[in-house]
Amino acid sequence: MNNSYVIYNGKIVPESEVSISIRSKVFNYGLGCFEGIRAYYSEREDQLYAFRIDDHYKRLLQSCKALNINIPYTVEELSSLTLELLKKNNCKTTTYIRPVAYKGGEGIGPTLLDDDNRLVIYTQPLGSYTGKTELSVAVTSWQRLEDNMLPPRTKATAAYLNSALASLEVKSKGYDEAIFLTNNGHICEGPGENLFIFKKGKLITPPPSDNILEGITRETVMELAEKELGLTVVERSISRNELYASDEVFFSGTAMEVTPVISVDDRVIGDGKAGEVSNKIKDLFFDITTGKNPKYADYCRPVY
Ligand SMILES: Cc1ncc(COP(=O)(O)O)c(C=O)c1O
Repeated sequence: MNNSYVIYNGKIVPESEVSISIRSKVFNYGLGCFEGIRAYYSEREDQLYAFRIDDHYKRLLQSCKALNINIPYTVEELSSLTLELLKKNNCKTTTYIRPVAYKGGEGIGPTLLDDDNRLVIYTQPLGSYTGKTELSVAVTSWQRLEDNMLPPRTKATAAYLNSALASLEVKSKGYDEAIFLTNNGHICEGPGENLFIFKKGKLITPPPSDNILEGITRETVMELAEKELGLTVVERSISRNELYASDEVFFSGTAMEVTPVISVDDRVIGDGKAGEVSNKIKDLFFDITTGKNPKYADYCRPVY
């Protein structure tokens, strides 16, 4: 395994050739945005599949537009260069891809008018994000950022301080992950993943108006639940007590994948084990990410 090459401003170069100034806007003020993409290794086929890579780069370009970070590449250029990088790094295990677009200019003042726009993309092996198959979580006292404050949907680097504070609070008390509430008390999402509940035969997830990031995994889960399991999927606000009373709860996200939650604030969810629907969705998800389901072949771009 060799992950020593990166993409820097449109070219594949050794990582040792890339550096960031301590005076840069991204280091001083967090003026950047990023994506998280996974490429899944199929041992059966000795193949690596980049999952919904075009959709991730579409979202990166939207984030860049909102933040005035001007990077001169198309979705196809970014995707195909990333596939080349995975090959160059000889990635033969499930790999996380992290593109970061940022303001590299120096000088005092947090200005997004700075015209030094840069893009770096690196790869790193990543198995299970938490190392656990079932999570015990807690609602954090930190509120989720609002869209007109620091838009969570732009995956802005600076917004992840909000996530980090929530994680610090709950993980230092022994929980596996945090859940944010919005400022009007609705369930929002985790620090880096979306949330679903299953209740009375319906799969329910908070709507974009509750300040979530519209996750690509979330969208995939909704599609699988409707098309493969015939479930009704509803986007609507969820209250904290409704969460406690759910039959099942699970997270979805590129890093988190599909991971069941078995307790919230020390309240046992369902019978305290990963639920049947959560497990079915998880299995369907791993089948499509590893290229086993031809119906969803368009979501997987082969590297080799
Ligand atoms: C705050 C937040 N919510 C949700 C997600 C899940 O999004 P996706 O499924 O596109 O990875 C992420 C991960 O990018 C995230 O950072």
